[in-house]
Amino acid sequence: MNFAGSFAVEPSSSPVSAEERGRMLEDPGFGRVFTDHMATLRYSEGQGWHGAAITARRPIAMQTTSSVLHYAQEIFEGLKAYRRPGGGAALFRPRDNARRLQSSARRMAMPELPEELFLDSVRALVRTERDWIPDGPEGALYLRPFMFASESFLGVRPAGEYLYAVVASAVGAYFKGDAPAVTLWVTRDYVRAAPGGTGAAKCGGNYAASLVAQAEAIRNGCDQVVFLDAIERRWVEELGGMNIFFVFDDGTILTPPLGGTILPGITRDSLLQLARDRGLNVVEEPYSIDQWRADAQSGRLSEAFACGTAAVVTPIGAVKSADGGFTIGGQAAGPLTSRLRTALVEIQRGDAPDPHGWIEQVC
Ligand code: PLP
Ligand code: COI
Repeated sequence: MNFAGSFAVEPSSSPVSAEERGRMLEDPGFGRVFTDHMATLRYSEGQGWHGAAITARRPIAMQTTSSVLHYAQEIFEGLKAYRRPGGGAALFRPRDNARRLQSSARRMAMPELPEELFLDSVRALVRTERDWIPDGPEGALYLRPFMFASESFLGVRPAGEYLYAVVASAVGAYFKGDAPAVTLWVTRDYVRAAPGGTGAAKCGGNYAASLVAQAEAIRNGCDQVVFLDAIERRWVEELGGMNIFFVFDDGTILTPPLGGTILPGITRDSLLQLARDRGLNVVEEPYSIDQWRADAQSGRLSEAFACGTAAVVTPIGAVKSADGGFTIGGQAAGPLTSRLRTALVEIQRGDAPDPHGWIEQVC
């Protein structure tokens, strides 16, 4: 046994062979190929955080009465480790994920995992699984830290015991297919988040509630669902698993403001910074679905894109809803979308300098 920060490493006794791993990494897709190990850490009211370990990835034994199964106290994160040009691996803004997990925990009445323990857990797992990072321009090791209420208790109150874990998945592009841009479905029937709700937290329940709307999107031939605000059903908020940006013909870039109903995306924040660095006019303002349609039709809106850890920067080519649809620009990545995407990806992959200190080399 050795120690990686606070995490004791017990290597798997039956890891996937190098040959088999090579085959699995050829075309990993997204979220299907899992690595050999996982990080785990427990919390109890009496003991605090304890038992930090990297072990073989295996099923977790739990009680049928574990409160997460009944009241859904569960939160998660998503971040990527990238292979470095000279070897080794680096994480992108991991401290921001640690802080967002803490803010999700506060909203869900869960204990806050100290930042350093979060960082130790992801660093230790990446060091253990560095051979699982796929090659290729979209290849990365997607890390999924998550935490749930493990106490066996059926009263409705915050649990006194939690399990925190990190698993890793070798990934390629999130959207499969060769289309140059994705198509979105604007749902009129469902909302993702209301003021005072959990929209700004990365909790599993938000995604459970989005699935029926995402299924509606797929039925209508679209890739992702767009949610409007819960009160007026008018303002564009975000997609099921991504934030959204609009680019206008005068070079202005707009994204909906954070205000409790939208996930504060780390990719969103990075792109806002990169756009400001380039002297672009950037606004965080509400944008209505009717204005979106009018601007797309008049040509005032030249580009739109989705962004997130999984999606990176994905151009939006068309939008559909129950009242009809419209297309955006040339239905492919526009020049500003491409410029911002390249700037972000080059920093993430170590192909450009990192002026904001976003990169943490871990091995
Ligand atoms: N919005 C939602 C609902 C998401 O699930 C995600 C993905 O994590 C994002 C936005 C983008 O966040 P980030 O850029 O931190 O990955
Ligand atoms: C991420 O981008 O990390 C997410 O959690 C979004 C999901 C669509 C995979």
